[in-house]
Amino acid sequence: MYGNDFSAPDQSRRPGPDQAADDDPTFTALLADEGRVEPRDAMPEAYRRTLVRQIAQHAHSEIIGMQPEGNWISRAPSLRRKAILMAKVQDEAGHGLYLYAAAETLGADRADLLDQLHSGRQKYSSIFNYPTLTWADVGAIGWLVDGAAITNQVPLCRCSYGPYARAMVRVCKEESFHQRQGFEILHTLSHGTPAQKRMAQDAVDRYWWPSLMMFGPPDDDSPNSAQSMAWGIKRFSNDELRQRFIDMTVPQAQALGLTLPDPELRWNEERGHYDHGTIDFTELFEVIKGHGPCNAERMAHRRKAHDDGAWVREAASAYAAKHAAPAGAGRGVA
Ligand SMILES: [Fe+2]
Ligand SMILES: [Fe+2]
Repeated sequence: MYGNDFSAPDQSRRPGPDQAADDDPTFTALLADEGRVEPRDAMPEAYRRTLVRQIAQHAHSEIIGMQPEGNWISRAPSLRRKAILMAKVQDEAGHGLYLYAAAETLGADRADLLDQLHSGRQKYSSIFNYPTLTWADVGAIGWLVDGAAITNQVPLCRCSYGPYARAMVRVCKEESFHQRQGFEILHTLSHGTPAQKRMAQDAVDRYWWPSLMMFGPPDDDSPNSAQSMAWGIKRFSNDELRQRFIDMTVPQAQALGLTLPDPELRWNEERGHYDHGTIDFTELFEVIKGHGPCNAERMAHRRKAHDDGAWVREAASAYAAKHAAPAGAGRGVA
């Protein structure tokens, strides 16, 4: 999950057949029993809407996340790097596909979700509003951004909503590959020429703090988490996940021979965790508000890609309609 805590659980109660499910003992018992909620099960309307919004934001992040790295496909330093990067970016498109499909099982319409992304009514992770200035940034994104994503997503494999949880199992396997390819890029640069090592260090310096912000605001400032935890959507708090990521990443930085740009980062024997410096969340909130370095560019590119792809969607639906028609239905089905 990419920064799932910026959209509030939807507390509105729309009158309808699902309303009764708010107090549905079957739903409550299912959650208490760590069971999975499936698309045809009764569920509270607020649960459904919260999931649609979270899954949509996740899906949007996957496809917008293709842009910063896609920027380097044509300039990858070798054919091997290019082939790996293309596979990685293509995986992200696939993650978007699984997630939009998971949102559809909750009754959401994919075209409508994309429309909400394009009009700015739904968000994507702020991390993708930072530029990729050098090849080393591709390494830093794989290592840190995909690493943070894995930390967020592994608990989502046990999310109470079945289709989302199952999508996460495959996504996490692919994210592990992404993280390792990023680590390997940085390891190669870090053990290359002094200029290459400087490039790797610079990328890590720029991506470290934004990757910590991917876990969302501090727990004290995250009023939505409690409801998501009660519903079994979220399993650990933002700060717990952030700490887990830091504890995992510090030894990896040492193995890379690179430093993390936080002079207060040190092992706390008593806590059994690394202490870290204060995170400047004002920067994060500026980026969320649309004032990040690349917000406008990312959205413009996405809208253009959507418009340019209109003929593909038309052809695909014409093809589907043709094949859905009963045999001998004749003309006029496309
Ligand atoms: Fe992904
Ligand atoms: Fe990834």
